[in-house]
Amino acid sequence: MNSLLRGVNLYLIGMMGVGKSTVGDLLAKRLGYTYLDTDDLIVKLAGRSINQLFAEEGEAAFRQLESDVLAQVCARKELTIATGGGIVMRRENWSYLHHGLIVWLDAPLELLYNRLAEDTTRPLLQDPDPKGKLRSLLEQRKPLYAQADLHIILREGETPEEIANKVMEAI
Ligand code: S3P
Repeated sequence: MNSLLRGVNLYLIGMMGVGKSTVGDLLAKRLGYTYLDTDDLIVKLAGRSINQLFAEEGEAAFRQLESDVLAQVCARKELTIATGGGIVMRRENWSYLHHGLIVWLDAPLELLYNRLAEDTTRPLLQDPDPKGKLRSLLEQRKPLYAQADLHIILREGETPEEIANKVMEAI
């Protein structure tokens, strides 16, 4: 059993495009944990895509579902959970996240933007200036992400396996 983890959930937080899902899946396999993704759970619960949910119900409804699924997963154990990039925005979510170990995957704006430039699945980037939008979200959220238990800095060209290795060494 891992020293910092001791069976509690591992939460990956950080900006969209940083690779929380891919790394989370790898980490779950290495830890013998079950992998979950809050966005996937929301899509299942709502019966529609994140884009549809934002368009039809608005961001506030999405954020409520996000808190609801987080409350559900935090009652379970031995999960690796990739969270949506905006989960840190609601104060109540922190009381759930702190039941587990919180890891911030942090990457520079350029790296994030290069991965997201062609993306059509993130409603917050359907903006006349997607890079500016990403920059302002990153600036706004950085102090919140910094409340994580562990801070893992990603470099250009690092593979998901290498990032997972860094997390495994840190926990
Ligand atoms: C969001 C990030 C997305 C998704 C939604 C909102 C955000 O998840 O939850 O589009 O506010 O940053 P990923 O971080 O998995 O892309």
